[in-house]
Amino acid sequence: MRDGAVHAGLKDVEPAWWRSAVVYQIYPRSFADSDGDGVGDLAGIGSRLDYLAALGVDAVWLSPIYPSPMADFGYDVSDYTDIDPVFGDLAAFDVLLAEAHARGLRIILDWVPNHTSSRHPWFLESRSSRDSAKRDWYVWRDGHGDNPPNNWVSAFGGPAWTRDGATGQWYLHLFLEEQPDLNWANAGVVDAMHQTLRFWLDRGVDGFRADVVHLIGKDEALPDQPAEVAQLDIVGTHDYAGTHALLRGIRAVLDDYDQERVMVGEVTLSSPSKLVPYYGQGDELHMVFNFALMHLPWTAEAFAGALDAADGLLSSPVAWPCWVLSNHDQPRQRSRFSGSEEQARAAAVLLLTLRGTPFLFAGEELGLLDADIPDAARLDPGGRDGSRAPIPWDAAAPYGWPSRPWLPFPPEPGLRNAETESADPDSMLQLYRRLLALRKRSGALQLGSWRRRDAPEGTLLYERRRGDELRLVAANFTAAAVSGVEASAGWRVEAATHLDAEGRRWGGDLAADQAVILARD
Ligand code: NOJ
Repeated sequence: MRDGAVHAGLKDVEPAWWRSAVVYQIYPRSFADSDGDGVGDLAGIGSRLDYLAALGVDAVWLSPIYPSPMADFGYDVSDYTDIDPVFGDLAAFDVLLAEAHARGLRIILDWVPNHTSSRHPWFLESRSSRDSAKRDWYVWRDGHGDNPPNNWVSAFGGPAWTRDGATGQWYLHLFLEEQPDLNWANAGVVDAMHQTLRFWLDRGVDGFRADVVHLIGKDEALPDQPAEVAQLDIVGTHDYAGTHALLRGIRAVLDDYDQERVMVGEVTLSSPSKLVPYYGQGDELHMVFNFALMHLPWTAEAFAGALDAADGLLSSPVAWPCWVLSNHDQPRQRSRFSGSEEQARAAAVLLLTLRGTPFLFAGEELGLLDADIPDAARLDPGGRDGSRAPIPWDAAAPYGWPSRPWLPFPPEPGLRNAETESADPDSMLQLYRRLLALRKRSGALQLGSWRRRDAPEGTLLYERRRGDELRLVAANFTAAAVSGVEASAGWRVEAATHLDAEGRRWGGDLAADQAVILARD
């Protein structure tokens, strides 16, 4: 076991801290800027740690901060063991980690194992000649005449192969041409990537979010996709059995460290049943994101279906659920809910009372909408700039940024900002603070069992129970008031989407789009 000292601020930790944690995703370019270049950075994040501690989250996941040509804004890594100068340097990272730990906040890094940047020295060496010592570190094949080796298409469109003029062979890239896939069948790659984990674990990071980690194992025959799905990229379907041994190897690296370093995997397979094997026997990923809630219409039936499905599948002791309403790849939830703040508030009550670890995306606690990005300002090859817009901190332009940021602000920054919402007891930010504080003091909400109860049409009702502690959570997904939701007496509203409902005796009535947490009176 290594490295007790760097966790000095995290005394008395329970094992499996990540089960009761709430994790906050920061998209570093858009969080906070300390040096006025219009791009967020590590010192900027450090300046907002008190905000995060007051919000009540337990851990922070940083989207990639490594050196990168930024073709995919950091998901094209050219050095896994350094910091891109736009964000700072290793010394700035060490300061941020220490300051976070001193506040009891853990730090999780993004780790991008499936592909590097085409400018990573490994790839430059690999593409230099067919005889290069690192040729086999990437996936090189001969084409069929002028056609690529197989029919796979890239997640960003077009063939997943690019022909290299110098050597005449094609290399695989499931994402951009600037993101060549590593060949995890090569032992040198496995070893080098394990070393990148150790580099950060030795520095004291608390874990990783592993980018599209289900893609790392590949059938070396690279078979064509069946004709009926040939136009779809394989990122949503690739489910190769050989990946599991690689995940066990990765897990063994983490398990060599104290303090339960965690790995949460992005596995973009659509059916929750396909996620379960990625937990292995408790020897693969600690958690796998369940993205189901990001794709649901605002109906009680849809949410009940997704929660029931997860409950049936993710109830074994090792398959701890992991929930998310939004991230840097998807529209923000308020935008998905046609701008409805009420629905976004109710969704927050659900997210923070489910069984499993919730991940928040920076700015959802402010109820931000996606920014309107004029065509001329679009930067992301995947069209995802809207949800990646900068966080407004203050009420007056430039909203806590020293200069104009790299993307436009979300709508209404003068109203939707941390300063204004901190001062309003009934703001979205204050709702998140109340929900996080309640979750923190309730073992039932953090770790208790989950069971759905019958409820009137258009509403959802479930219980969380641990020992003698019981909470009920009720939500109305309709635009009309509903009565008769949990009609039994003896309940009090402990938290609600709006402040005025809190503390009252429960009478069974939910207003339109209202959600409540009930405790015994
Ligand atoms: C998933 C990441 O979340 C996304 O932002 C990125 O473009 C792809 N993986 C490729 O790394």
